[in-house]
Amino acid sequence: METAGIVEETTPSANVPKLTDSQLRDFDIEYVTPEMWERTESWFSQAFPEGEFSFLDVGGGNGRFTDSLLERFPKARGVLIDNGAPLLLANKTHPRKTVICESATNLERRFEGQEFDLICFNWLLHHLVLRSYDATCRLQLQTIAAARNLLSSRGKICVFEDLYEGIFLDTLPSRIIYQLTSSRILSPLIKRMGANTAGCGVCFHSLSQWDEFFREGKLAIEQFHTYEKWPVSQLRRIALHLGSARIGQYLLAPRQSPETRLGAGTRSSSRARGAGGAAGRAHACQMTE
Ligand SMILES: C[S@@+](CC[C@H](N)C(=O)[O-])C[C@H]1O[C@@H](n2cnc3c(N)ncnc32)[C@H](O)[C@@H]1O
Repeated sequence: METAGIVEETTPSANVPKLTDSQLRDFDIEYVTPEMWERTESWFSQAFPEGEFSFLDVGGGNGRFTDSLLERFPKARGVLIDNGAPLLLANKTHPRKTVICESATNLERRFEGQEFDLICFNWLLHHLVLRSYDATCRLQLQTIAAARNLLSSRGKICVFEDLYEGIFLDTLPSRIIYQLTSSRILSPLIKRMGANTAGCGVCFHSLSQWDEFFREGKLAIEQFHTYEKWPVSQLRRIALHLGSARIGQYLLAPRQSPETRLGAGTRSSSRARGAGGAAGRAHACQMTE
């Protein structure tokens, strides 16, 4: 069904808890900074030198990323899928853009028979949570694998995610954040501590966990960049066993053979700058998640 240019949900979705409208409104911002855009544009231009490609923006929210991509690549055409109605309503219409109101948990079924040159998961995967940590990880992995199966022969996947590294135990912050944010009993307290996803849940991972997911999803990392670490208070550091927090950006492609595995691509990182730079913005948006 289509209303005001937005195609409404047609396939049943996994039982993923949904953010409330007021939680969603916090995401009506622009996440991709000018520094990130510079890199993103360069990666996409290398991948599609003629500038003509189809893309799927999964969890594209208010559409700012999609709109900017369409503006930067006038021959590209895009589909945005998101289940956050208030954010979808903020989308501008565009002749090369389709907006779909639906959960990202059924990608393969929803887009059966279609393919995309590029699939973007910009801060979406950590929102795919189920009622246990293991089921959550499986859903994230299944979603990555579903996207892989929707790629054209020259297809790429772009992922932006927050990377949370443990002080001693790599996966511990991920598990603690998942348990705290998904607990209904603790939600008033967790909300007061600044997590706007309290009661619904989020599941971030460390760099090595994402590497493992992409490897299991038969994807090779062609490009990878980590942005500057953002400041973490001593209290948060201890409570979450948090060694560092920063944004990671990946460009992935289906793995053709064991030789094109992880590490075959380029890895880089942005140096730490003052809190007023991208780190300040990242901190502002990530710590509210
Ligand atoms: C942190 S925001 C990122 C928005 C956008 N990708 C960007 O970078 O500006 C997360 C987005 O994921 C969407 N989302 C959360 N769970 C989803 C689901 N199960 N299916 C589709 N979209 C979902 C939210 O509605 C929101 O738009």
